[in-house]
Amino acid sequence: MNQRIAVVTGGIGGLGTAICIALAQAGRRVIAADLGARTERIAEFQRETAGLDIRFEPVDVTDFESCGALARRIEAEHGSIDILVNAAGITRDTTLRKMEPSQWDAVMRVNLDSVFNLCRHIIDGMTTRGFGRIVNISSVNGQTGQFGQANYSAAKAGMHGFTMALAREVARKGVTVNSVSPGYCETAMVMAIPEDIRAGIVDKVPVGRLGKPSEIARTVEFLTADDAGFITGANIPVNGGLFIGF
Ligand code: CAA
Repeated sequence: MNQRIAVVTGGIGGLGTAICIALAQAGRRVIAADLGARTERIAEFQRETAGLDIRFEPVDVTDFESCGALARRIEAEHGSIDILVNAAGITRDTTLRKMEPSQWDAVMRVNLDSVFNLCRHIIDGMTTRGFGRIVNISSVNGQTGQFGQANYSAAKAGMHGFTMALAREVARKGVTVNSVSPGYCETAMVMAIPEDIRAGIVDKVPVGRLGKPSEIARTVEFLTADDAGFITGANIPVNGGLFIGF
């Protein structure tokens, strides 16, 4: 069997990097797709992942055509895309009464529109070949809502609606679509929360600590395995018990 090709958006980010490493260690050829303008971070990422089968490709996930061009480039240079992990995400936290339309739009475009933009370009290839694994990185805050995150919580909850709908559309074609909902992890995004607020959040986590990006990556690796074909339309919480329920 040919080596599976995996694309990870937000691939050089906090969770994305760990996901790229886990998938490469599982034998996949990984394409880390992210903004090409982040040159220092790209160089650091290349050092962190040296020796693994991971390549960087630039993309703007908010741009439908940029996502199409990415998909075509990968198919031409490496082959068909078997695994897509939508991990690109940003926050623009502020209470709704202060939220500017630009803060709403930015979060919607990067976190939710991106999922459409990528999936729309790769889904036909996956269904035609009869194999695909799509994982959308959502958030515990899409399940519970979070103070100061009307935009982010809406986008993350929206990702799961998308996941459930697409899962039904492609279930007969060997393609699974799932979401993973991380809790608070050791990433720059979480470290940007004011320290006192962050300490209050960690206090509420039953496991008593932040998650490690590798713990999210472990779940993605599991869902994207060839023998994970009966798990679809699911949301897997990985949150240290912060939100326990159906
Ligand atoms: N619940 C209830 N009240 C809260 C509150 C909360 N969680 N947080 C703040 N408040 C209160 C404050 O005590 C303050 O009250 P007073 O006006 O009576 O003094 C008031 O709300 C502050 O309101 P402001 O509109 O002035 O808000 P702010 O500008 O001070 O700060 C905020 C708002 C930036 C959103 C800040 O609360 C914050 O950073 N919160 C954390 C948000 C968060 O968890 N983000 C997650 C980022 S990581 C991530 O998203 C990854 C993932 O998927 C898990």
